Amino acid sequence: MIGLIVAYTKNRVIGNKGAIPWRIKGEQRRFRELTTGNVVIMGRKSYEEIGRPLPNRFTIVVSRTAKFEAENCVTVPTLNDAIEYAKKNRPDENIYLSGGAGIYKEGLPLAEKLFITEVDAVIEGDTFFPEFDESKYEKTVDEEVDGEIPYAYVTYTKKED
Ligand SMILES: NC(=O)c1ccc[n+]([C@@H]2O[C@H](COP(=O)([O-])OP(=O)(O)OC[C@H]3O[C@@H](n4cnc5c(N)ncnc54)[C@H](OP(=O)(O)O)[C@@H]3O)[C@@H](O)[C@H]2O)c1
Repeated sequence: MIGLIVAYTKNRVIGNKGAIPWRIKGEQRRFRELTTGNVVIMGRKSYEEIGRPLPNRFTIVVSRTAKFEAENCVTVPTLNDAIEYAKKNRPDENIYLSGGAGIYKEGLPLAEKLFITEVDAVIEGDTFFPEFDESKYEKTVDEEVDGEIPYAYVTYTKKED
């Protein structure tokens, strides 16, 4: 399964100045639960923000300029290379496209499922999740969480053509 996993605000912000511009305790739980034991594919800047491979999963960094190699981490020059690498070397694991904007844009047509955290706020940012045709997906709301900044875990599953 190729999935895409993202959290964005009502104005579709995913990032600001190289970081995620909100802190909501517990909000990253679904990211951890879904990606653990699987493969995450991320762009160079997102990787640099974290600064190390995430534990208990395999990280593929997409970059034409840098090379990060570590235990459970490789770098490849294109998104297609990343997907090929995962399919060949981690055939039993799910693939999660994990940002940022370039990976999401190129990866959207490839993902069967979009695991989206809808952050119920307007927050300033400089990096956005692309618009997509929601009518091509079945949407389920999996969980709604109240709080200072409420959020919902939703899943969009691509309809059969
Ligand atoms: N809210 C969320 O769920 C979420 C998730 C992830 C990231 N973020 C945020 O998003 C921001 C980072 O995103 P970003 O879009 O600026 O950067 P990014 O996608 O993380 O990294 C961009 C770099 O990755 C490489 N790259 C990306 N797409 C590529 C492609 N299709 N083919 C080849 N190389 C590709 C290039 O590296 P080279 O220049 O080295 O070639 C590019 O300069 C941060 O603010 C971060 O906090 C938010």
